[in-house]
Amino acid sequence: MLEDIKEVYFSKEQLEEITERIGTQISRDFEGKELVLISVLKGSVIFMADLMRKITIPCRIDFITAASYGAGMESSGNVNITKDLSDNIEGCDILLVEDIFDSGNTLQKLSDFLATKNPASITLCTLLDKPKRRNPNVKLKPKYIGAEVQDEFVVGYGLDYNQKYRNLPFIGILKPEIYENA
Ligand code: IMP
Ligand code: MG
Repeated sequence: MLEDIKEVYFSKEQLEEITERIGTQISRDFEGKELVLISVLKGSVIFMADLMRKITIPCRIDFITAASYGAGMESSGNVNITKDLSDNIEGCDILLVEDIFDSGNTLQKLSDFLATKNPASITLCTLLDKPKRRNPNVKLKPKYIGAEVQDEFVVGYGLDYNQKYRNLPFIGILKPEIYENA
């Protein structure tokens, strides 16, 4: 797996600093609220697991799955919800936790969908932000952003290419020949 990585973009230590910083902010901002963390599967699962351990206030967790990419690298813009939440979120303060905010289509679709369940509030949190690739129709802005990335395809720490590399403990840039030969 390691031989497919061109360079490390964020090390384990940098990722730990990011989760620590965001976890502290969330603990302060949601003090006294009915916080529910919702992980967007599968990409955010590692970030969510680390982030929730940096949150010092009570919270619940839930999971949702949206499919847009298929096996490729471009968002189709056509986002389907393939797994819904397990619990009722009416009246709760939702923090939607995503791996990467790219076109923005996924979070737009998910927050519109979650809004129909009448939560008290919906706040967005993303580990990575790729602002250059935003769909101009998406007006959302995550309140919590771990770090910005350039227009490069990154893998590891939950992020995949064709379902591979999610278990790398850091975030790296994939060698172009890996996807050019696909
Ligand atoms: P959006 O709907 O275009 O914002 O896409 C967000 C989803 O695309 C993320 O949840 C990721 O699954 C995937 N994605 C976008 N950029 C990358 C990348 O650089 N590496 C891996 N997955 C990515
Ligand atoms: Mg994803």
